Amino acid sequence: MKNLIWCFVLIAFTSLLVQCKADEQNDEIANLVDDPDVIGNRPGGGNNGGNNNGGGNNNGGNNGGGNNNGGGNNNGGGNNNGGNNNGGNNNDGGAIEANLLDDRGLPLNIVSPADNPITAAKIELGRLLFWDPVLSGELDVSCATCHHPDLGYADGRRLPIGVGGVGLGLGRIDGVNDDIGLVQRNSPTIVNTAFNGITEQGNVNPNQAPMFWDNRANSLETQALLPLHSFEEMRGHAFGEEETLAVIVARLEAIADYQNRFQAVFGGNNPITDENIGRAIAAFERSIIANNSPFDRYARGDENALTQQQIQGLNRFDAVGCDDCHSGPMFSDYDLHVLGVPESPLLDFIDAGANDDFEFRTPTLRNLNTTGPYFHNGVAGDLTAVLNFYRTIQGNGGNGPGNLDRNPNVAPNQIDQDARNLNLNNNDVQAIVAFLQSLNDETFDRQIPVSVPSGLPVGGNID
Ligand code: HEC
Ligand code: HEC
Repeated sequence: MKNLIWCFVLIAFTSLLVQCKADEQNDEIANLVDDPDVIGNRPGGGNNGGNNNGGGNNNGGNNGGGNNNGGGNNNGGGNNNGGNNNGGNNNDGGAIEANLLDDRGLPLNIVSPADNPITAAKIELGRLLFWDPVLSGELDVSCATCHHPDLGYADGRRLPIGVGGVGLGLGRIDGVNDDIGLVQRNSPTIVNTAFNGITEQGNVNPNQAPMFWDNRANSLETQALLPLHSFEEMRGHAFGEEETLAVIVARLEAIADYQNRFQAVFGGNNPITDENIGRAIAAFERSIIANNSPFDRYARGDENALTQQQIQGLNRFDAVGCDDCHSGPMFSDYDLHVLGVPESPLLDFIDAGANDDFEFRTPTLRNLNTTGPYFHNGVAGDLTAVLNFYRTIQGNGGNGPGNLDRNPNVAPNQIDQDARNLNLNNNDVQAIVAFLQSLNDETFDRQIPVSVPSGLPVGGNID
């Protein structure tokens, strides 16, 4: 039984109920978007009934807590239930009931905004835009330059090099005679950003999903256009910030392949608009999901998915108070907190975060294997350094064994109470780090397009 999990996939357009079989290692899980009509459904055994009903458009709350929905949730096929309640169709079929061991498993389905339903063609268009340096001022940087699948859709660097750089990840070097500096914050991953803002109950509101280390934007659609404007990230000297979108739209309009694809996906007379660029990229990002980590399997009832040490680490994680901020299925409350992480030695200014108050958002703890170095500026090289920093700031912010010191610009009493109240012992570090490993799932979609419609190098100057 362990290796045999039955799931039901409800196909949106046809309402066809297809029964499928998947084993635990399951390659299908890696490719949730192979079938245009089942986007968002991931087989994987049991599931999070209660987690599926976030946002405006879904299954009418029919999926009872902890029971298997038969995988039948579908946001897929561009036909996001549009007010129709599919919920009733999903719960029969005799699927196995999962025995929930933890309520923090990720949902099996994703929620899109009502005005941006996800379709296979839209995802493909978004993927091409994501990889096409035609979106950058000097035609040398794409989103994938800093969010590359080989690097967990981050870049593995403390701080990114955008415009003018050459190479990928740690091997990327700044351009010669280039006055464009480093990007001031660490690249977060785009894996699972479909779930940004998820509540402890598992609800997602894609229109409000918080973005960036300081939560300064909401929704993937809005976020996607912002890097294009950024001088260091993508724009460079090619044009002024106000002209950004007009130039990019004109460039895309001059490429027949983009014209055809935008037309097919969005229709209308002028389908290539700022808004539709954002929508296509957002739909692509929503398809990059990793919700089948050992922890998720454990949460859905597989007791053997975690080692004893990981279970011990999970218990200590909750007991010492990490879960005050790292809560819910993404292990983030998506709120801002002051920890007083030290400034980056690579920058010559102070990054005072949100509200000029050194507040930064609680990051997700998923997929940490591929998203280091850590903290908003990458100053922590590994997880032990992160945990030792918590030992430094807990209590009265006195001297801990950490190799990172508190930020001298942040007074000890400015540090968030929940961080000062942590109760972390030296003995906890190893077990908690082991538990954090169980939150890794590297089976996300890693496809790299063979070419992009502009004909420019795929991904920018990353070779
Ligand atoms: C030069 C590197 C670079 C490029 C190019 C780049 N990004 Fe980012 N991205 C970053 C950094 C750094 C941040 C965090 C910035 C901050 O928080 O202030 C970020 C944040 C994000 C986030 C927010 C994630 C979260 O959980 O809050 C998303 C989504 C994202 N980028 C998508 C994109 C898309 C889409 C593109 C292309 C249109 C792109 N990025 C181009 C470096 C880059
Ligand atoms: C007061 C809220 C709070 C508590 C309590 C807390 N964290 Fe954090 N955590 C944060 C914030 C905020 C950041 C980002 C800080 C920054 O980058 O400046 C963070 C960053 C991290 C990171 C780095 C992740 C990354 O991608 O950069 C890890 C790992 C982490 N925390 C683990 C833990 C563990 C383990 C505990 C318990 C010992 C814990 N946290 C307790 C709020 C909290």
